[in-house]
Amino acid sequence: MLSQYIAHDLEHQLTQIAEHGFCVMDNFITQATVLALANEISSLDSASQMHEAGTGQTQITINKQLRGDSIYWLNEANSSVAQKIYLAQMELLRIALNQHLYLGLFALESHLALYQAGTGYGKHLDQFHKNNTRSSDQAVRKISCILYLNQNWTEANGGYLRLYHNQASETTDAPYVDIAPLGGRLVLFLSDTFYHEVLLTNKARASLTGWFLTRQ
Ligand code: OGA
Ligand code: MN
Repeated sequence: MLSQYIAHDLEHQLTQIAEHGFCVMDNFITQATVLALANEISSLDSASQMHEAGTGQTQITINKQLRGDSIYWLNEANSSVAQKIYLAQMELLRIALNQHLYLGLFALESHLALYQAGTGYGKHLDQFHKNNTRSSDQAVRKISCILYLNQNWTEANGGYLRLYHNQASETTDAPYVDIAPLGGRLVLFLSDTFYHEVLLTNKARASLTGWFLTRQ
């Protein structure tokens, strides 16, 4: 089922990434799995297992204004059935990306994320330009992948992902596209190229964010 979707649409999506640096895949996983993952976030949140996300290289600074989500890192050795489905699907995607685009992706890191109403995530890049202390074989984020886990999302809920097109600088304006966080939708973009932000959400907003890593 999962691999069928990939086989069907992937050729087109890979072309999008190659030509534009990003793509949007709807129904990347089934609604049943979307629901299961969303329920896991609710349970983790109730059990105080979702933690405030840091920003910056050290992940220490907690700045609620810049970044309002709480997160839970997936651990492959200790994952639920729904998480295993996600990880298996992402593994197929990793192989396909390597075959078609020669990106040398070798691993995935991913976390569940929950934005409470009234929060967002300011404009940022997922990869740092200055890699001062990194050794040459250090892993870097190459492709950002955001899977949304929301049911019946409406425009009034806000929480759009604003993706700026190939923007070199944080400060200058650039054309952008706003993408609704619809359940089952996966957004992929080049981590070092696309500034992006999460617009203020008016309703709790759930996602599973992953980064494919490559070697420097
Ligand atoms: C992130 C991020 C965007 C989104 O987690 O780094 O930018 O739409 N997420 O959740
Ligand atoms: Mn980001």
